[in-house]
Amino acid sequence: MIHIGIIGLGAIGQRLIKQFTEHPEVEIVAVCDQLESLANETAVSLGGAQAYTHYESLIADEKVDLIYVAVPPKFHHAIVLEVLRAKKHVLCEKPLANSLEEAQEMYEAAKEAGVVHAMNFPLNYGPGATKFSDMIAEKYIGELRRLQLTMHFPQWPRAWQQNDWVGKREQGGFVLEVGVHFIQQTLKIFGNIKNIQTRLELPVDREKCETGIIATAELEDGTPVLIEGLSQVAGEEYIGFIAYGSEGTLSLENWGQLRGGKIGEELKPILAEDVIPNKIIDELVKAAKGEVSELYDFEVGYKAQRVLEELRKI
Ligand SMILES: NC(=O)c1ccc[n+]([C@@H]2O[C@H](COP(=O)([O-])OP(=O)(O)OC[C@H]3O[C@@H](n4cnc5c(N)ncnc54)[C@H](O)[C@@H]3O)[C@@H](O)[C@H]2O)c1
Repeated sequence: MIHIGIIGLGAIGQRLIKQFTEHPEVEIVAVCDQLESLANETAVSLGGAQAYTHYESLIADEKVDLIYVAVPPKFHHAIVLEVLRAKKHVLCEKPLANSLEEAQEMYEAAKEAGVVHAMNFPLNYGPGATKFSDMIAEKYIGELRRLQLTMHFPQWPRAWQQNDWVGKREQGGFVLEVGVHFIQQTLKIFGNIKNIQTRLELPVDREKCETGIIATAELEDGTPVLIEGLSQVAGEEYIGFIAYGSEGTLSLENWGQLRGGKIGEELKPILAEDVIPNKIIDELVKAAKGEVSELYDFEVGYKAQRVLEELRKI
């Protein structure tokens, strides 16, 4: 049995609690949130896990083997470094950190600690993005001509994520929150991203995050990458990760839906039913037992942060 401690019990922390509780070989033994009522309620709902309001106490709890860090980005650095000092396995929410310097320090410390260090980049475990990646490898689109990421939000922060940080410039914004997932996918599927030129639309209020981005970059072989995003627009939320190739187009939309077509054809839905989705908790358990696993570690988080920080440069 692997004993889990969770720090940060907000929107995403709660989402992963469900996945942890579904795994027969893990038990959540401790939870922590600076909001005492939230820590207590969550502990009760888990049938008597230990509740903490200070992360240091949870990390020091001898029962805990693996710690999931789901606090807002600017707290990842201090908390994860403390976990690594205690030589415990760690799963960290994305983005790895809130600056490149922090991310590098965390990556170096993780390598030295010799523990499992993983990031929660859920696209990698879903059928849609997996099939997108497989079809690119099988040359469904031929040779890539252009890669495009489009992120449109009627409202940012979104209705389900009304907190005190995701709308602020310091550690929020959709480039950081949403863009980082697709930066990681780009690095994984298409390789290095270079020559980043970015133009942000920023509100007059310096505390508030970007409302738009137009950025261009290149893959290692010079293939252009276009990143464009806008919030406070009419219509529905739309996230498109689109690969235009010499023979066709493939588009991963709204996180999991695939559409594709050959040149001259319509874009049609492509089902990913043949792909068996993986689960991050299964992979974490394998890694903690020393088995081969599919995890995206702090090196992946650090490399994504390098691009992320270029994009959010003001
Ligand atoms: N992987 C994904 O798909 C995904 C999706 C959304 C958010 N996230 C990431 O998850 C993290 C959390 O996001 P969220 O939307 O759940 O935020 P949230 O604000 O809803 O929750 C964060 C929680 O952490 C607590 N907290 C803050 N500082 C703390 C501290 N020092 N010690 C203990 N508790 C503390 C807060 O009280 C709050 O309950 C962020 O890094 C975010 O980028 C990941």
